[in-house]
Amino acid sequence: MDKINCGVIGLGWWGKQMSIFILKSHKFSIKYIYDIDLMKAKEIAKEFKCATVNSVDDLLKNKNIECVFIFSPNEFHLEHATKVARAGKHVFLEKPIANNTNDAKKIAKVCEENGVNLAVGHNVRHYNLFKKVKELIGNGLIGDIVYIDGNRSRPIGYSIGKESWRFYSSKCNGGPLIQMAIHLLDTVRFVCGLSVDEVKKISLKKILKTENDESFGLLIRFNKNQILHVFSSYVTQESFYLNFFGTKGTLYADVFNGLYIQRVGKFKKGKISFIKNKPEVEEIELFFNSIKLKKVSINPSVREAIENVDLIERILKQKRLNP
Ligand SMILES: NC(=O)c1ccc[n+]([C@@H]2O[C@H](COP(=O)([O-])OP(=O)(O)OC[C@H]3O[C@@H](n4cnc5c(N)ncnc54)[C@H](O)[C@@H]3O)[C@@H](O)[C@H]2O)c1
Repeated sequence: MDKINCGVIGLGWWGKQMSIFILKSHKFSIKYIYDIDLMKAKEIAKEFKCATVNSVDDLLKNKNIECVFIFSPNEFHLEHATKVARAGKHVFLEKPIANNTNDAKKIAKVCEENGVNLAVGHNVRHYNLFKKVKELIGNGLIGDIVYIDGNRSRPIGYSIGKESWRFYSSKCNGGPLIQMAIHLLDTVRFVCGLSVDEVKKISLKKILKTENDESFGLLIRFNKNQILHVFSSYVTQESFYLNFFGTKGTLYADVFNGLYIQRVGKFKKGKISFIKNKPEVEEIELFFNSIKLKKVSINPSVREAIENVDLIERILKQKRLNP
C-alpha cells in the first residue's frame, strides 16, 4: 500500500521520538513539521529530510497531506485537533486526549462532524507484555481477578521548572496522574475493563514546588467487585508495572523486568516468555490501517480515551485526604 503523507505538530521529547517511530513504520512520509520553536523544527527537519512551516494554518494549507500527528503540550490538543479536523485531515493525537472531559468531547465531536479518524496515542496498551497478560487472563490462567496493583513513576519532577508546561495545573491537569498513572489506568481498561464504582485518592507535595501534587496513591473499586491500587510519582525511582492477583495465581507484569507467574500454593515465581514488540510502531500502523482499510477500528476507541480523562478529572475533584 502507498505511504500516506503527513504533517507533525510538536517536536519536543515525545514528538521527536514518535516521529522516528513514524519513519520506522514505513507507512507514512513526513512532509512538513511545525513547532512553535522554529529553530528547533528547522534542525529536526534536516534530520528527517522534510520541510518546516511557520504555523499550524500553513501546515494545513498543504493539500498533499492526509493526516497530522499532534504531539504538542496537552493544553493545545483541542486547538490543534480542531484545526486539523476542520481541514479534513485525519488526527493522531497524543495522550491524554485533553486536560479535561469537556475538551475531550469537543475533540471527538469535531472529528466526527468532519468525517476524519481520531486515534489517541495510548501506547502502553500496545506492549506485547500487556497483550500477553490479556490473553492469559482471558484463558483463565489466574482465575478471577480480585486485585490489581501498579506503579508508574519517574523522578523527572526534580527537573520540572516554571518554564515547563508540566509545572502548571492549568496546562497539565494532575501532573503525574494525567501524564503517567493514565497509562496504568488505560492498560487495566484494555486488559479487563475499568468500570469505576468508587475511588479514593491520597496525594502529596513534599519536595517539589510544582502546582500539581508530586505523588498520587489511588484506591479504586471497579467492575463491581475488584480492587485496583495505583501509585504514581515524580519523585521516586523509575517503576512501571502492573500485578494482577487472581483466584488461581498472580501475574507480575513489569515493563523493565518481564512477565512472571506465581500460582496459588507456590512460593516461587516462574518466568513467562513473550516476544517483545515495538508498541509505538504498532499503534502508528493501526492508525494507517484505519485510514486505508476503513473497517479497521482504532485501539483505544475514542470513548475509552475520553473515559481515561474523565476518571482523572473525577479523581482530581476529590478532596485531598491529607493536610
Ligand atoms: N505516550 C507517552 O508515553 C508520552 C510520553 C511523553 C509525552 N507524551 C505526550 O506528548 C505530548 C508532548 O509531550 P512532550 O513530553 O514531548 O513535551 P515537550 O515539552 O518535550 O515538547 C512539547 C513541544 O511542543 C512545542 N510546542 C509548545 N507549544 C506549541 C504550540 N502552540 N504549537 C506547536 N508546538 C508547540 C514545544 O516547543 C516543544 O517542542 C503531551 O501531550 C504528552 O502528554 C506522551
